[in-house]
Amino acid sequence: MYKVGLTGGIACGKSSVAELFKAYGITIIDADEIAHALVVPDSPALTHLSRHFGAAIIKPNGQLNRAKLRELIFNDANKKHQLEAIMHPLIYAEIEHQLSLVTSAYCVLAIPLLIETKMQSLVDHILVVDCALETQINRVKLRDNLSNPQVMAIINSQVSRNQRLAEADSIIDNNQHISDLSLQVNLLHNQFLKQSQ
Ligand SMILES: Nc1ncnc2c1ncn2[C@@H]1O[C@H](COP(=O)(O)OP(=O)(O)O)[C@@H](O)[C@H]1O
Ligand SMILES: [Mg+2]
Repeated sequence: MYKVGLTGGIACGKSSVAELFKAYGITIIDADEIAHALVVPDSPALTHLSRHFGAAIIKPNGQLNRAKLRELIFNDANKKHQLEAIMHPLIYAEIEHQLSLVTSAYCVLAIPLLIETKMQSLVDHILVVDCALETQINRVKLRDNLSNPQVMAIINSQVSRNQRLAEADSIIDNNQHISDLSLQVNLLHNQFLKQSQ
């Protein structure tokens, strides 16, 4: 199975691009979706996390208190590694499971932190959605209603734009109108169909 790893900084346009591949009937395996699904109330992963990090990371309604967990790991590299050690193997296993079910000619693995989590070897082709830092900041603020420092903290926790671009086999330019994505995805789709044969 030919695997395209779709990545990019927060709000650069990964989900918008993924939707366009989906419209061609290509299966999208979404690492964020998997990570969320793994920690639904009463799941083994959430129970494991609460044993490890304390019951305070679960809300009274049984859901994961993401803000609390984020706060716990934010300035603690050790705790962050512990969280990754619990979650990454589970995410990896679910990706493998979903890969075994793919029937489209190739598939797209949407992994926001592909480079940060060193999962490059999982994919055959690294596709980076890129836009200028200023544009990116504006899009996050608009979408997630965050303050400037909050946005910058997230962006600074990710690899730099240059580091990401250096890893790319292909780059989608998402600096202009969102409709400019269609043609770029069309060209890449045809390329991936050929490469997957
Ligand atoms: N070219 C564009 N012009 C304007 N807004 C865009 C463009 N591309 C994406 N957006 C908007 O920016 C936000 C982030 O895009 P999204 O695809 O969700 O990014 P990601 O999945 O990488 O976080 C969304 O609200 C989306 O509608
Ligand atoms: Mg997204």
